[in-house]
Parts: sequence; C-alpha cells; structure tokens
Amino acid sequence: MTEEQLQVALKKFEGLVREQSERSDRIKAQKEFIDYDALDKIIIGVCGGDGIGPIITKESARVLKFMLADEVAAGKVEFRDIDGLTLENRVACGKAIPDDVLEELKACHVILKGPTTTPQAGGPVKNIESANVAMRRALDLFANVRPVKIKEQGIDWTFFRENTEGAYAVGSKGIHVDDDLAFDFVVATSEGTERIARMAYDYAKRNGKERVSIINKANVIKTTDGKFLNICKKVGEEYPEITTDEWYIDITTAKLIDEKRRRDFKVFILPNLYGDIITDEAAEFQGGVGTAGSANLGKRYAMFEAIHGSAPRMIQEGRGDYADPCSMLRATVMLLSHIGKQEKADLLERALDICMLEEKKYQITGRPDGATCQQFGDYVMETVKSLMK
Ligand code: IPM
Ligand code: MG
Repeated sequence: MTEEQLQVALKKFEGLVREQSERSDRIKAQKEFIDYDALDKIIIGVCGGDGIGPIITKESARVLKFMLADEVAAGKVEFRDIDGLTLENRVACGKAIPDDVLEELKACHVILKGPTTTPQAGGPVKNIESANVAMRRALDLFANVRPVKIKEQGIDWTFFRENTEGAYAVGSKGIHVDDDLAFDFVVATSEGTERIARMAYDYAKRNGKERVSIINKANVIKTTDGKFLNICKKVGEEYPEITTDEWYIDITTAKLIDEKRRRDFKVFILPNLYGDIITDEAAEFQGGVGTAGSANLGKRYAMFEAIHGSAPRMIQEGRGDYADPCSMLRATVMLLSHIGKQEKADLLERALDICMLEEKKYQITGRPDGATCQQFGDYVMETVKSLMK
C-alpha cells in the first residue's frame, strides 16, 4: 500500500462516517408513524419487478384489488401501477431505482412489490445495487417483519429484521485500498437499533408473546453487535412481562432445527444480515421461501414483498407461468393488516391456509406437473369469495 492509497481510503472512510452520521441525525428527527385512518385516501403502488415478479404480483394484486373494491369505489383507496422497476430500466440508467420510479414510489403510501433481480459483482450485467436494498434505504423502511407459522409443530415465529443498517448500510461502498486489501463496513446507530427493538417488543406485548430473543454475534463483532444487543436489552427492560433472551447467530441456526427447543422462540430481533440469512432457513420449515411474505415498515412508507428473489432460472427454462404466488399473497395479508383492514387480512389468511395447507385442490410445483400461477390465483379468488358469503 502506498501513502497515496492510504489517503484515498481514509478519505472514502471519512465520507462514509459523515454520511452515516447524517443518517443517524435524520432518524432522530423523524416524527410519529403515519396514521392511515387520518388520510383522505391511501395510495397503493403495485410494482411487478423482474423474472417471475410480474407473474406472481399480478395474482396478488388481483386479489387485493378485489378485496378493496369498495374502498376504491368510495375513493378511500387508489391503486397505481408502477412499471419502471425492471432490470433493463435500472441498468439503462445505471441506478438501483431510476429517479422517475422513485418519485412514483414516494407518491404512494404503501407498495406491493414483486422481486427484482440484483446483478452480482463481476457478472456480465452492470453492477448496480439491489433495488430492494435501495428502496428500503430511500423510503427508510427500517423493519423487515417476517412471520413463519407451522401450527401442527407449534411453531409461531415473527422475525424483526433491522432493515437499513448493519452490513447493508454501506454494503455497496466497501473500499479496495489496493489490490491486496479490501474493507466492508457494518454500521449500527442508537436510534436505528432502538426503533427496531421497540417495534418488536410492542408487537410482542400487543400479541401476548411471552418471549423476545435478541440475535447477535457480540462475542466477535463486538462493537456494532455489542451496541445492538445492549440497546435491545435496555428496551426490553421496559417490558417486564416479556422474557428477553439472547442468542448468538450460529447457535440460533442450530436451535431452529432442534424440534424440542424451537417452539420456545416467539419473536426475534436481528441485525440485518443475520435476519436475511435466518429468515430463509425459517421459511424452509414452512414449505420454502415461496410460502413466506414480508413487510418492510417505516414511519412514512411501507412495502410488502416476497422473501425470495426473481427466479431468473425459472424464466430461462420457460417455467415462469408455474411460479408460486403464495409469498406475495402472504405479503398481501400483511399489507391489509398494516393499513387497518384486519378483517380482510384475516379472511385472506384463512383462504390461503385453506388453499395452501388444508384443502390443497391445486398444488404448485414450479413445473408443468403442477398448477399454474394463474390457476392458483383463481383458486384463491374463489376461496375468498366463498368465505365472504
Ligand atoms: C431479502 C433478499 C435481499 C436481501 C436481496 C435480494 C438483496 O435476500 O429480501 O431477504 O438480502 O435483503
Ligand atoms: Mg434474503
């Protein structure tokens, strides 16, 4: 490393410190959560994304539009289709989210979003940042809430994944000091940690969950995970009726497959990267990532999506029409609940339980031996209609 390379690296690091300090100040200045009841109209943006995204989003948007038809007719809800969040568009303008698309997103309150493809570093496509990560940051969607439930096994988990900090905060701004030395950075702020912890504990309290588990690796990642752990524990002290425990991420991955112990877990709070990893593992017990939805919540905006990617292989192999819309439909349940339509959310959840777990008239396999995405969408629509009678 030359003296010049050192200075360049330090300058870049200085930039990151300034940027993150400003972000921390912005979090502190934030007001209360948006009150949907106080709005004249809730605007819901529908964004198909890439790969199987538009196919699975179409089915969930169809169900959502049907269930909110009265609200739309009364002018209380408006749907907006947002088309520009495709890989082609993003690569063409060299941005994770094109400016005009971001404007459209910001004009909504709530977004239903299909998966978007993220080009890999070193691949043939221009290396732009993940649209997910960029959207979470741009709309400050700090909580990624991912439920996993398996009734017959007594599993009822809700993951509160911190969604804007940790290894993701400056994930695409690591520093190559020279050819031999590279750094990535992990970021934790007090306010950023406190708000996710509070949301998880409030949820636990409201829903009668007796335990909150704080996941970390503070024995090694001492500074940021240590801060995360301490702040979460401090917030937990305000909820004496809830038992707090703390688990290192490595043993957590093991305990989730321990049939005797895993039922004890209820609510998890996790730094961003651990939350990313462990929610894929957790969803697998429930039937795979295709069955799991997720809510990305902030104070002003909320975005609902599948927990999986855009499955480009399915498209390449011509199997896109056989994609499973269940993750997006589960996300739709969370959307309805989030905007205060709890009865409708319960009804759709019931319909999905019937279609996915109980009656199972159509099975999705991802291949021509299974149902198509549209057939499954029809099935869910029929089931919703029969429950509404
Ligand atoms: C998720 C995904 C994203 C993430 C990818 C697509 C960037 O895996 O939502 O869990 O890492 O957060
Ligand atoms: Mg993930």
